Amino acid sequence: MNTHFERTGPLGDLSSYPQWAQDLVAACEPARRRVRDHAMWDLMGEGRIDAVTMRNFMVGTWSLIERFPSFMALNLLKTQYGRSAGDNMARRWLVRNIRVEQNHAEYWLDWADGSGVPRAEVLDGRPPRGTQAATEWCLEVCGQDSLAAGMLATNYAIEGVTGEWSQKVYDSVAYAESLPSAGRKATLRWLQLHAAYDDTHPWEALEIVCTLMGSRPAPEAVEHLRECVERSYLSLHYGLERCLLQPQMKEVEEQAA
Ligand SMILES: [Fe+2]
Repeated sequence: MNTHFERTGPLGDLSSYPQWAQDLVAACEPARRRVRDHAMWDLMGEGRIDAVTMRNFMVGTWSLIERFPSFMALNLLKTQYGRSAGDNMARRWLVRNIRVEQNHAEYWLDWADGSGVPRAEVLDGRPPRGTQAATEWCLEVCGQDSLAAGMLATNYAIEGVTGEWSQKVYDSVAYAESLPSAGRKATLRWLQLHAAYDDTHPWEALEIVCTLMGSRPAPEAVEHLRECVERSYLSLHYGLERCLLQPQMKEVEEQAA
């Protein structure tokens, strides 16, 4: 069933990809939209996010940021040079892009710090309950599932939607102005780097996955990939919801005492 796929159309045009991939992207669009259109970005974009929610978001998302290159490394372990065109592409892409992730954890800490969440709190604070779902999911899919599933769930789905929300927040003048002017540039660096203007990474990941899967994979295999992409969006959405709902753990403990 695996019929060779080689892209001929533009990288960033969905019609350049096999029909199964176009259908998969369309099927996952509602779940993606729930992340892209989450109230969290409106709170930030309108410059009215409260300190507790920001703290929850920074601490709750940290593990996903910090582990992201490790998830890519787990996928790299699955590649074998010379086995297939898809393997070769994946290997080259992962080796190069793990390095690109090098400074992103540090930039996240800068963003947190500039938003009033000290780095010690991000590093050692307790994440709100439920916010680790995306990290746990990425570890599972990258550690135990196929190369295609791992890359699609992380480098396509998570990076792709992150590019979209980052751009919304980065484009907001109200958000930038809500930050102390000293160090504002460093604070916004993570968002600037992840804003999707011309980010080709998610498209490249999709191209690699299509090369691995071919133009006519088995329907069960496609259904599994669709579930993986959807789980990425759902786990992100769930984490965001938990950030909005929960007071800081310390306060919960104080109230319980
Ligand atoms: Fe990154």
